[in-house]
Amino acid sequence: MIKIISFSPAVTKKIGAAIARQISNHSGLSQGPVFVLLEGNLGAGKTTFTLGFLQYFGIKPAAASPTFVIAKRYETRRRGKACPVVKLISTTGGERGKYNSRLKTEKLDSLTTSHQSQVTVSNIWHIDAYRLKSKKDLELIGFTEIKKQPHMVVIMEWPGNVNGMKLKNVIRVRFEHGTSASERVIIIR
Ligand SMILES: Nc1ncnc2c1ncn2[C@@H]1O[C@H](COP(=O)(O)OP(=O)(O)OP(=O)(O)O)[C@@H](O)[C@H]1O
Ligand SMILES: [Mg+2]
Repeated sequence: MIKIISFSPAVTKKIGAAIARQISNHSGLSQGPVFVLLEGNLGAGKTTFTLGFLQYFGIKPAAASPTFVIAKRYETRRRGKACPVVKLISTTGGERGKYNSRLKTEKLDSLTTSHQSQVTVSNIWHIDAYRLKSKKDLELIGFTEIKKQPHMVVIMEWPGNVNGMKLKNVIRVRFEHGTSASERVIIIR
């Protein structure tokens, strides 16, 4: 488990990008998707994190559409390349931040097991399950097919609404409000 305090939306985006970098080397990608399940209340930072994650792969979604959308698929624009994990952590500042940065970087690396250079992410699904009632509703977007596709990342907000998905290669990220308006506690496991 890794716990990171974010002090701004920009830092939360960088944390998203750091996780994206790690996942771009995930050995499981050659067999099927890697799932990134984002848990936390309204306004906790899930979409903000996702924007940073997408940005790492060269994706900049258009401004939030007023139309309700459950899922969007993006094609990545570049292969994973070096992402400033260390720089990211140092933005949390202070001596404590510096000390933690080494620790966090190591643990972030341990989230992935492969160093194969060939595994890449070709597509990213961003699913918002907020309005879904059970995992059956995921068939609206063909989830059974999505679950079989390699070189894919599936980022999902509100996964608790669609419990029982039986997923392999899952990374859970929990977002909690902190003690100030712009603070978020981000727990990765
Ligand atoms: N440290 C922070 N990290 C992320 N967002 C922050 C932070 N501090 C303040 N915010 C603000 O909190 C809000 C987070 O909104 P966001 O859409 O990312 O939440 P969400 O978890 O996706 O919510 P929802 O469940 O409604 O989809 C934004 O308005 C953002 O500017
Ligand atoms: Mg959201």
